[in-house]
Formats: sequence, C-alpha cells, structure tokens
Amino acid sequence: MTTAAPDPSPAGSESSEHAAGPRLRVDVLTIFPEMVETFASASLLGKARQRGLIDVRVHDLRSVTLDPHRSVDDSPFGGGAGMVLKPEPIFDTVEQVQPPRPLLYLSPAGRVLTQAYAAELASLGGFSLLCGRYEGVDERVREHLVDGEISIGDYVLAGGEVAAAVILEAVSRLVPGMVGNFGSVEDDSFSQGLLEYPHYTRPASYRGWGVPEVLTSGDHARVARWRRAQALVRTARHRPELLTARGGLSPADRAVLAEFDLEI
Ligand SMILES: C[S@@+](CC[C@H](N)C(=O)[O-])C[C@H]1O[C@@H](n2cnc3c(N)ncnc32)[C@H](O)[C@@H]1O
Repeated sequence: MTTAAPDPSPAGSESSEHAAGPRLRVDVLTIFPEMVETFASASLLGKARQRGLIDVRVHDLRSVTLDPHRSVDDSPFGGGAGMVLKPEPIFDTVEQVQPPRPLLYLSPAGRVLTQAYAAELASLGGFSLLCGRYEGVDERVREHLVDGEISIGDYVLAGGEVAAAVILEAVSRLVPGMVGNFGSVEDDSFSQGLLEYPHYTRPASYRGWGVPEVLTSGDHARVARWRRAQALVRTARHRPELLTARGGLSPADRAVLAEFDLEI
C-alpha cells in the first residue's frame, strides 16, 4: 500500500495552484503507514498536500512481503532481546517505488535535526525517510541501501514514525507558500541563530499586566529594534551557547540593547 496526497479538490479551486508540481516530495517507508498518513493529512501539512504544494507518499513495508504472515521482522543472529526489521521488504520496497534520494534512515545514531538541517532538507526538492522499529533494521540496509541517518534527538523512541512526523512538520513549514506569512518563519527561533522575541495580543491590559509601550506606538522601525533586543536577551538567558556560536554581540546588537536599557 502506498498513500499519496488526498484527492485534490475540483478544478478552479486551490488544487490548481501548483500545476507546476509540488515544491517538495517526501516518501516515508514504514510498517505503520496509518500513523504517518494520519499525521500528514491533518492541519497545514494536509492542506499543503491538498493544494499540491507538498507531495507526501507513505509506503507500507508489508505490501511487498509474500509469506502468509507478511513478516517484516525476525530474531537477531547471535541471540539477544528484541526483533530486527528484515532486509528484503525494505530493499524490495525501495526498488519498487524508487523513492526520492537521499533516503535517510531514522536512527538515534543519525545527524541530529536542527533548524538549519531542516532548511537544507526543504531546499532539496525531495527526500525519503525509512522508519525503524524494534531493535532497528538489519545492518545491511544501513550499509548498502540508505544514503544517511537522521535523528530527532538524544533519546530513544519505539519507532521512527513519530520522528518522521517531526521532520515532516519542521521541513514542510520552510517550503515557500506553506506558511501564510513567510516572514514569521524567518523570525522563528534558530532561523537567525537566536531565540524568538516575545509576542503579545489583545487585550492590552490583562489582570493588570500591560504590554510593552513600544508595541502599540505604531513606530515599526522601533518595534523591529525592540524585538531584536528582546531576542538577544532571551537567547542570552536561555541558550547562551547560541550567542557564542554566532561570535557574541555585534556593534549593532549592542546599540539596540543600549537603546532599550537592556544588558546581557
Ligand atoms: C527502539 S528504537 C531502536 C534503538 C536501537 N536499538 C538503538 O539503541 O539505537 C526503534 C526505531 O525507532 C527509531 N528511533 C528511535 N529513536 C530515534 C531518534 N532519536 N531519532 C530518530 N529515530 C529514532 C529508529 O528508526 C529506530 O530504528
């Protein structure tokens, strides 16, 4: 079984928006396709698939199995706890569907996902994710089939499906057209090596707590400088290593901090 984008809506509606083809294709190979499909059909990602902006195809590794039990796993040579995903269904699926490369195996040993890595993946046009389960995949898959490995952090999940969902969400929102106001993505935490500044909305006074005066001043340039200063302060407080990584404070950073009487 392979699932692709949900049926497009009638001609003349949003579905014709990307007649030139999707900007990103992601194939996911898994023994639990419904987990990924359910996630990828909801919210912004589901809408982007409907609009033809992003093409997500979920492939069930069991589909290619020929035995009555549709086995995808077996016990490890050498003994020990747990099962291992067999190589045949994985090689056969890849040979049959020819998913876009690079094909990345989800694994705690992989390159850890960051905002910069997500942007790299979004710019590729296409890539594929192989979800492990149990003790993982037969080592020959890692040695002779995949192009690399990707991790979502230093902890161990029961399977790659949730990790695939995280990657799909982080990467797809960086595809132009996916998020209504692309400026909001550019201001997001990590995009410029800083955490994001604080947000406020109505009411202007809530339980006696007001909002910073600059935000209601109508002076857009000053608002932008205040946000910059706040992003610097928040980063220094919560993730000082990010400031160090970008070489500390620039003269322009010091100027906006001084303008708002802030110190870090
Ligand atoms: C229980 S884990 C296997 C862990 C493996 N025995 C180990 O110690 O490295 C099963 C599957 O979940 C996925 N997985 C677990 N943790 C992950 C992480 N941090 N990032 C990405 N995928 C992960 C991988 O696909 C993995 O094959």
